[in-house]
Amino acid sequence: MSTIRLRTSIPGPHSQEWLRRRTNAVARGVSQITPVFIERAEGAVIEDIDGNRFIDFAGGIGCLNAGHCAPDVVAALHRQIERFLHTCFMVTPYESYVKLAERLNALAPGDFPKKTLLLNSGAEAVENAVKIARAYTRRPAVICFEDAFHGRTLLAMSLTSKTHPYKAGFEPFASDVYRIPYAYCYRCSYGLTYPSCGMHCGHHLEDTFARVVAAESVAAVIVEPVLGEGGFVTPPAEFLGTVQEICRRHGIVFIADEVQTGFGRTGRLFACEHFGVAPDLLVTAKSLGGGLPLAAVTGRAEIMDHTGPGSLGGTFGGNPLACEAALAVLDVMERDKLPERATQLGERFVTRARAWQARWPLIGDVRGLGAMQAMELVRETQEPAAEETKQIARYCYEHGLIVISAGSYSNVIRILMPLVITDEQFEEGLGVLESAFEAVVTRTREREGVVA
Ligand SMILES: Cc1ncc(COP(=O)(O)O)c(C=O)c1O
Repeated sequence: MSTIRLRTSIPGPHSQEWLRRRTNAVARGVSQITPVFIERAEGAVIEDIDGNRFIDFAGGIGCLNAGHCAPDVVAALHRQIERFLHTCFMVTPYESYVKLAERLNALAPGDFPKKTLLLNSGAEAVENAVKIARAYTRRPAVICFEDAFHGRTLLAMSLTSKTHPYKAGFEPFASDVYRIPYAYCYRCSYGLTYPSCGMHCGHHLEDTFARVVAAESVAAVIVEPVLGEGGFVTPPAEFLGTVQEICRRHGIVFIADEVQTGFGRTGRLFACEHFGVAPDLLVTAKSLGGGLPLAAVTGRAEIMDHTGPGSLGGTFGGNPLACEAALAVLDVMERDKLPERATQLGERFVTRARAWQARWPLIGDVRGLGAMQAMELVRETQEPAAEETKQIARYCYEHGLIVISAGSYSNVIRILMPLVITDEQFEEGLGVLESAFEAVVTRTREREGVVA
């Protein structure tokens, strides 16, 4: 039986009315990807206010690995709502913050003592990780990567790579931020090919110390183990280890931003585990809170404890509802083996996507780790196919599937469905995606006068 149910054309009349009100009331800078308003959601399914039912391949941008309204999360929230909503952990503490810190310390890669700080968003956690690294090293500079995304606040935006829409017009940026190429093999910045490149981009960090910023001025290198908004670029196995080893040699704090790669998405709880690296500081958010705003910095105790009482925190950081949700998310991850499910889903996706790639040259690259998978869409000579990407996303929502794009050139279709999606729902969603390619490729050929 089909999960998708379309009762109206998309958007339906009720959504249209709210879209009008939204346009009048909400700042234009907040983007609008899918033009429907939501009534309820469960697992991997979303229903809108016109009674249309969608399969969700976006998961609120990777925040719902444990599913929409995961029953254990909802039950934990109900229990907490009856007790208290907020006290501020810094004023009158509560157990769930400490329990969550203990669990994250135990789960984060690395066989060394760890401590955790809880915050509200990925960007806030990134800001704090850099702040802690600067205090610990007493150095100013941070090195980040091309195509990285670390958030929209001043420092996080400065660390982010993509200019439009994230940075252009928001100058001046935070100082002492330096950027080097990531291991984006499909578009290698050096025109090299892996593995004959000898991992040139990783080793390039040493060159940066000679030509751009002295190693003794660098507090931290911050890196996503797989680029998220940058297009799910998955580096070769030794890239992160190479970077970490160089950091270690120069006393630089190695920060892994696992805001999007974390909590089972890649087939392990953290993507760093695939690469055998244990970051000095691990930044997490998104799926940690099971749909509630929560983020964390977990790292080496001697680094985390370097700053004095009152130097870290915030009014709402580690809110009791969010902490209870996160504890339930971690239970569900373990009990239902969601990282393993991610591996299965990823394999199924890759099989389908490679078959599509053989059929449609529009798909230039299929890549990812576990269920963090994507397709980069190109025209001849790898010219980014941003318009086709937009058309595919649009076809999908008009036919009951919510997907989102990514990439510095806005030409990547990525999948971030809840890992609790059923096999039937996943196949149904892939079927819509396949029809979308069929329709968009046919339309493009017709427009260009190519006879199939
Ligand atoms: C890798 C990464 N870091 C940081 C952020 C920022 O997180 P937030 O939107 O919660 O501030 C994101 C958001 O997409 C992300 O993907």
